[in-house]
Amino acid sequence: MSRQNLKRFTQPVGVTLDRFIEKDRSRYPYATGELSQLLRDIALAAKILNRDINHSGLIGIEGVLDSENIQGESQKMLDVIADIRFSRALRIGGETCCIVSEERDEVIYTGNDDAKYVVTIDPIDGSSNVNVNISTGTVFSIFRRKSPTGTTPQQEDILQTGRHQIVGGYILYGSSTMLVYTTGYGVNGFTYEPSLGEFYLSHPQMQIPENGKIYSVNEGNFYDFDQGIRDYLDYCKQQRLSARYVGSMIADFHRNLLQGGIYLYPATQQQPQGKLRLMYECLPLAYIAEQAGGLATNGTIDILDIQPESRHQRSPMIVGSKKMVEKALEIINEK
Ligand code: AHG
Ligand code: MN
Ligand code: MN
Repeated sequence: MSRQNLKRFTQPVGVTLDRFIEKDRSRYPYATGELSQLLRDIALAAKILNRDINHSGLIGIEGVLDSENIQGESQKMLDVIADIRFSRALRIGGETCCIVSEERDEVIYTGNDDAKYVVTIDPIDGSSNVNVNISTGTVFSIFRRKSPTGTTPQQEDILQTGRHQIVGGYILYGSSTMLVYTTGYGVNGFTYEPSLGEFYLSHPQMQIPENGKIYSVNEGNFYDFDQGIRDYLDYCKQQRLSARYVGSMIADFHRNLLQGGIYLYPATQQQPQGKLRLMYECLPLAYIAEQAGGLATNGTIDILDIQPESRHQRSPMIVGSKKMVEKALEIINEK
């Protein structure tokens, strides 16, 4: 073998998620390692769920259950599996005192009252896409509890604004599996290397292009949108933007993050608060968008400034490239 070839076969594999988390910890002088452990717990559950999703067609878990979640939406088998995977990892990991999951009406008290952190999570986003082999995601926020450790977590620990997030993140189960998150120092993306079982830093300091050519919205709802939104969608077409809508918010958001674009899930006549859940769908993406130089709004105020009133509340959301969101707001607010 020539030296040249040797060099090619011994390229460094890069920075693992674990190493990155440890390095990142040094930013926080009083960090005691609990948050690092919590991120590792999430990454572990993500690896297990990634395996489950990859095998879903083979082991018959891509179907629908005869139950409904708190939103009145039919639960897929993978919704429930994902919910169990993440809640178990967080309970056993020991750093989370309570969890709000899309799949459970009630708060999940982990029994770890000494733990500092609260997690809100959509265990599988876009679950109806699993059985047609299309990308799905997991999306989560981490908050620091307000009540003292050692006591039962309270409502005030959960209903915090997006500005109080300690971490906002998602996992995309796509053509490759990626973990993308922010702790408030930019956005970093890690790609899963299945043969090594590790996430590697592949997208350091991600920035969303200021402008883009893609708009993502379920235009089947066009006649249920307010006039302002309809006007903006007309504008998108006049500008000859490309329409791209996977129907898995994480996939749509991730593409727009990399390429520039705007994602909208506005209010409709049937759903005046839109469809997306504030605490575990909108907040994490809004935090990531903002940290990457983009914007997220409900049409009136920044998503991160909304004071949540209930843990499963919904919110309209417009998120993406800064200039595109600003243009959307300009047109919407003309009405
Ligand atoms: P979930 O699978 O967690 O219920 O979320 C689905 C969400 C989101 O991922 C997607 O963008 C949106 O619902 C699609 O809704 P429509 O089918 O109404 O467009
Ligand atoms: Mn979802
Ligand atoms: Mn979901």
